[in-house]
Amino acid sequence: MPATPVWTLNPDDPNPETIRQAASLLVAGELVAFPTETVYGLGANALDADAVAKIFIAKGRPSTNPVIVHIADVEDGEMVTATWPEVAAKLAKRFWPGPLTLVLPRNPRIPDIVTAGGETVGVRCPDNTIARALIRAAGVPIAAPSANRSMELSPTRAEHVLTALDGRIAAILDGGPCRGGIESTVLDLTDAVPRLLRPGLISLAMLEAIVGEVHHPTTTEGPSRSPGQMAKHYAPHTPLVLANGLAEVERIQTELRERGLRTVCLNVTGVPAEYAEALYAILHQLDREQYDTIVVEMPPDTPEWAAVRDRLMRAAVGTMYAKRPL
Ligand code: TXA
Ligand code: MG
Repeated sequence: MPATPVWTLNPDDPNPETIRQAASLLVAGELVAFPTETVYGLGANALDADAVAKIFIAKGRPSTNPVIVHIADVEDGEMVTATWPEVAAKLAKRFWPGPLTLVLPRNPRIPDIVTAGGETVGVRCPDNTIARALIRAAGVPIAAPSANRSMELSPTRAEHVLTALDGRIAAILDGGPCRGGIESTVLDLTDAVPRLLRPGLISLAMLEAIVGEVHHPTTTEGPSRSPGQMAKHYAPHTPLVLANGLAEVERIQTELRERGLRTVCLNVTGVPAEYAEALYAILHQLDREQYDTIVVEMPPDTPEWAAVRDRLMRAAVGTMYAKRPL
């Protein structure tokens, strides 16, 4: 495929002609990357199995990992699911448009490839003017994983998408940097008690304030049912190691330098939302600078930092210090 065009849009007032052009690519079964409030998504018509298949090819994504379906309007949730329980209605009313994905029984019109053959579908309404205008103009729900190659860092800027997917997709809509910076919270509503499958900017406490008890990895045992919870994910190319506190950062960096390796440290700064917003852009940048190792000062083990810690632990899996207790 030829080089992928990048179309720049005003995030608050996107040019309708560009939106129409991008939407017609989607309707024609092509892939278009677009900004959301979390990370950039790689969109395809969710009702077109052949179009969605292209997502898996472009990303190198295993077919066992289901894709989130995006809708333009809060009321459209029911169009992609088979049921719309009271709990979904309450959560959608409170958090949509926003960074929360709800997993529910799938509507029969959603093809197998979207759900990885499963009977559930993840659905969310993104809080981004470009994303919603695009979905509305396409007139169909849009299947979209993060617009990165499988296992790699999610993109929070159009340039990250271009680096990863140039020549593999039809177009990229550039709406500037994403505000949220990490992927949506994923909540499974198919059991009596909702289950947190992926922490995110909608925190456990925010969910529990609306729905009561929520099962989450530290309260429930057993294998995760979200295939995206595979240990390694969201990882930079540069090995990343986690350190508890500045003394440990120092010890690890000294050891690495003694072995002649170039290292850089990512310190804890700001509040969790600011840290999340910047995290992937910083990791993409550090990757370009080709250090031998990125040493990360681990943020505190408190509920506010849970989503950021989750992403850091995934980014670190498999590297030499990763097996140390955190
Ligand atoms: O913020 C986000 O969620 C971004 C933007 C583009 O919306 N999307 C995103 O998609 O992060 P992806 O494919 O990179 O991650 C989706 C996660 C994966 O962990 C996947 O396994 C899980 O959601 N998921 C999707 N559908 C599911 C389902 N039916 N049941 C369980 N988990 C599901
Ligand atoms: Mg992803």
